[in-house]
Amino acid sequence: MKKSTDEVKQMFLSFFQEKKHKVLPGSSLIPTNDASLLFTNSGMNQFKNILLKENKEFKYTRVVTVQNCLRTGGKHNDFNNVGYTSKHHTFFKMLGNFSFGDYFKTEAIMYAWEFLTSKKWLHLPKEKLWITVYKDDTKSYDIWKNIINVKEERIIKIGDKKNQKYTSDNFWQMGNTGPCGPSTEIFYDQGHHLPGKPPGNNTDTGTRFIEIWNIVFMQFNKINNENITKLFRSSVDTGMGLERIASIMQNVTSNYEIDLFQPLTNLIVKMSNTQNFNYKHIYVIADHIRASAFIISENVIPSNEKHGYVLRRIIRRAIRHGHRIGIKKIFLHKLIPTLINSIGQDSHILQKKQDQIENILKLEESKFVETLDRGLILLQSKIQKLKSKTISGQLIFELYDTFGLPMDLTIDICRKKNITVNFEEIKTIMKHQQKKAKNNTFHRKVNINDDIVTNNDISSNFIGYNVIEVQSCITSIVCNNTYCTAIKENELGILILERTPFYAELGGQIGDSGIIKNIHGKFIVYDTQKYKNAIGHIGKLISGTLKVNDVVNAKIDNNKRSLIQANHSATHLLYSSLRTILGNHIFQKGSYITDQFLRFDFSHYSSINLTDIHKIETMVNTKINHNILIKTNIMTLEAAKEKNITSLFHNKYHDTVRVLSINDFSIELCGGTHANRTGDIGLFKIISEKGISSGVRRIEAITGKIALSNIHTKEKELEDIAIMLKTHNKNITRHIQVLLLNNRKLEKKISKINEQEICNIVNKLSKKFICIKDVKTIIHTFKNENSKKLKTIIDKLKNKLQSCIIILINISDNAAIIIIGITSDISQKITANKLLNTLLKNLDGKGGGKPSLAEGRIKNLIFLKKELINIKNWIKSNL
Ligand code: SER
Repeated sequence: MKKSTDEVKQMFLSFFQEKKHKVLPGSSLIPTNDASLLFTNSGMNQFKNILLKENKEFKYTRVVTVQNCLRTGGKHNDFNNVGYTSKHHTFFKMLGNFSFGDYFKTEAIMYAWEFLTSKKWLHLPKEKLWITVYKDDTKSYDIWKNIINVKEERIIKIGDKKNQKYTSDNFWQMGNTGPCGPSTEIFYDQGHHLPGKPPGNNTDTGTRFIEIWNIVFMQFNKINNENITKLFRSSVDTGMGLERIASIMQNVTSNYEIDLFQPLTNLIVKMSNTQNFNYKHIYVIADHIRASAFIISENVIPSNEKHGYVLRRIIRRAIRHGHRIGIKKIFLHKLIPTLINSIGQDSHILQKKQDQIENILKLEESKFVETLDRGLILLQSKIQKLKSKTISGQLIFELYDTFGLPMDLTIDICRKKNITVNFEEIKTIMKHQQKKAKNNTFHRKVNINDDIVTNNDISSNFIGYNVIEVQSCITSIVCNNTYCTAIKENELGILILERTPFYAELGGQIGDSGIIKNIHGKFIVYDTQKYKNAIGHIGKLISGTLKVNDVVNAKIDNNKRSLIQANHSATHLLYSSLRTILGNHIFQKGSYITDQFLRFDFSHYSSINLTDIHKIETMVNTKINHNILIKTNIMTLEAAKEKNITSLFHNKYHDTVRVLSINDFSIELCGGTHANRTGDIGLFKIISEKGISSGVRRIEAITGKIALSNIHTKEKELEDIAIMLKTHNKNITRHIQVLLLNNRKLEKKISKINEQEICNIVNKLSKKFICIKDVKTIIHTFKNENSKKLKTIIDKLKNKLQSCIIILINISDNAAIIIIGITSDISQKITANKLLNTLLKNLDGKGGGKPSLAEGRIKNLIFLKKELINIKNWIKSNL
């Protein structure tokens, strides 16, 4: 019997609930606890730590979930399969049951079989199911053969590829590292009317046998390619693609024909503007719009890095496939209402963010269409100029880097035109770019080779959250890029102390300055940087000598630190205010916090208007006014996650984290130093807001006395303007309006006077012509006029005299402009540019123009008069 996708999902949950599994929600599409993954790619991701480490707080040993997954990169990447097969998606739902040290192979296999074949559940014909097992996994093989009674010819052993251990399709790994183990997979035979051979056949590309369920026996942890360690207990992780099993239950051979996709694919077909298209384009668009909508619903916006970059690639690929079926207008956002209406129980997730999703898609698509138009014209012209049928990686990279033309698109186009692409060169360039970007981040303060310090295993203790001064011991000194035992007067170097109150630049907050001294020497610290586990005080010894093992007094510049702290706390208030006022799609993309100002980069798709800027400023200043206590709590990362405290930078935190709270208004993970109370910030003022890359905005702001002094400067400027206008501050705007109005009136008047003056000149000159062979010729010299006016005079004279040669000269600043106008009847014999060139030849000038009008400039005025006489003869002889 046919079953809707939602029904299949519900049955899966109910089945495992009956088998004593706890139903847990799927995790976010963006993993919060795993730096090795950009997007959740499997149901087990959220349980990675439970598989790897014993977690006493986790109370379930049997769990069932439905997990949103995205497979667009890394070990599990289906991006390029979408459209080319009818069974792959970038975004899909994975049904999964898990056992954490509870049941193992026998029950896992029995449950899967029961769910798929029993009359009460999916009731699939047993003979249509085929099994694969890892070649060394005799236990699973025996269970299938002897307990489940699957015929031997339908149980296939799958070995390692090229005899390399753990490379088998039946050895599942989450990523390049992490939990892994042998797996057994269940395939469904869709019938002999379809092409395809049973599983295990490497050359087969047919669609007859499809994998529906993967049961992984998690037994190992992959540390790297060489090291795989056994886990402390064995677990089970299974995954079944909801869309695939739904396609079987709905008796359709493509996932894109199931209930969930049908309204969407129908609409895309309706939108297409050609009869003759391949269905793969429809599939790609349907898959990608669903993936984009879910990614945006996680508050990601298109950009050039990380999650934003994946989103951008997906959107752009959908647009390109739209173009392939003749869709000419911006269309992606128009698919959203249908998508929402057709995805069943999940619709509320997207509904809540519908505006945001549509707006982002609209904006990204219009930007991309512009980029494409420009880039494609350019690519076309570059292709035409190619000397051979090969395109260089450099050119492909330049088109991307300078004009934003996606490299995969350029490669696609070149392939279609049979142009060979130099992939090796692209790889080398990309590597070089990555290295360059990395080098740029090396600190710029003192000429220090970071490796010298980083490569040594030294560490120091930071104790400066509440302390500004401490007695400590020098453990290392680096001068001239080498370790030494002492630093002498006037030498630059790095001191490393056993413990220090100096904060090293991290998380956007700049390093502290201050003084390290004892009775023998005094070292000024300009900056503090982290070198792996060591805190380096970078500066200069201004007197005496300091030696390794010396006991010193280390004291930070507390004035500077207080300013930095005020700016750091203000940054937290700004972040929360932005999210409150503009929306939860705002995420921190970076920050830079100094004693002078703060800079905050965040995801947002358009510029922020002044009204919103004022709202944000007011919100931050209100929190400052409330003088809220800024609290710090140390807790485990797990506890922070449970309280839903997340940060974009969570990946770099350790097992325990500092949680900074300003009431409930702002709660963030933060390792930086902060003001005691919000009142310490004093005042908050935004000084600029701009876009720094696609989808990323930057706000710069100032606080405290600096903000006040900025306001004073502005006030002073206003007062100066008021004094100039001879009015009061309050009346400035009205005064300037009046001035502008008067100015416009005067401009009109002047332009009338100019017109009149030009008329007078034209009248006068029109009577002053000489005839050279009957052609009226005017040669006249002006002083301090402009070229535009002279050209108008020439136009008017041409009109008035109908047939004439006019040479006008304007002398100013010991140079002359010569403008020549000739009516078309004469330009058959003498053209303005030829006449000009003849004149310029002896006058050391430059210029050019058309047959009817030419303009030149000369610096040598001595022979001008003489040449103007000679030119009459030249005209005569050429007429
Ligand atoms: N983790 C396995 C997979 O993704 C089973 O869930 O296929």
